[in-house]
Amino acid sequence: MDIGIVGVGMIGGTLAKLWARAGHCVHLGSRTPSKAAALAKEIAAASSGSPEDAAGAAEVVLLAVPYSATPELGEALGGLLQGNVLLDAGNPFEKRDGEVARAAAKAGGSGLYTAECFPGARVVKAFNTVHWETLEQEAHRDGERIGVPLAGDDENALEVASSLAFDAGFDPVIVGGLAEAIRFEPGTEVWNSDLGGAALRAKLGL
Ligand SMILES: NC(=O)c1ccc[n+]([C@@H]2O[C@H](COP(=O)([O-])OP(=O)(O)OC[C@H]3O[C@@H](n4cnc5c(N)ncnc54)[C@H](OP(=O)(O)O)[C@@H]3O)[C@@H](O)[C@H]2O)c1
Repeated sequence: MDIGIVGVGMIGGTLAKLWARAGHCVHLGSRTPSKAAALAKEIAAASSGSPEDAAGAAEVVLLAVPYSATPELGEALGGLLQGNVLLDAGNPFEKRDGEVARAAAKAGGSGLYTAECFPGARVVKAFNTVHWETLEQEAHRDGERIGVPLAGDDENALEVASSLAFDAGFDPVIVGGLAEAIRFEPGTEVWNSDLGGAALRAKLGL
């Protein structure tokens, strides 16, 4: 699968590495294209360039930027993502993300707010609960895999997100529609809990 990665920091860079290792074509996008190019070389990514380049190169895009950047990236990249799958790993923290975090709370959660910022994209809240070092260290571990909760309104987009969570080395746990993303945001019991898939399903009553 061609996967665009917008934001090649801790979470974007880690998932890019795991997906490249799984055989996917990852396209890295950074505001500093030389940074994306260096990582691309390290992980044998398919391409690197600007956030626009990465978003335009794939039908599935991971948004891995500070949550405060979500509205401006919706303006800048939304047109490139019409009908495409957008995996939103962002977490709103009022202290860090200010007004945007407050807007997400008002919208009913960051899943719904991201969808407001990217009208026409098929948004799935994904990969926002597991710390990047845990992703790196526990991918494909023996025994029960760590659960990755997913929420989205589009069934096909959820299937795509599930297969990518599996390919990265984790157990995809579909929680429900986008409005349900609020059940695994910061401050909830399951966020950053590193629960295995079965325990995560039990905790969420699934
Ligand atoms: N760190 C984790 O373990 C973790 C786990 C799950 C979810 N998350 C969430 O994922 C998001 C990213 O976290 P992170 O830890 O990966 O942060 P990070 O290491 O700081 O990386 C974020 C990347 O976003 C890019 N960026 C920043 N502002 C931008 C803007 N206005 N437009 C475009 N790109 C911008 C930066 O790349 P350039 O400067 O190269 O453009 C930066 O490398 C946050 O919402 C966080 O809560 C983090």
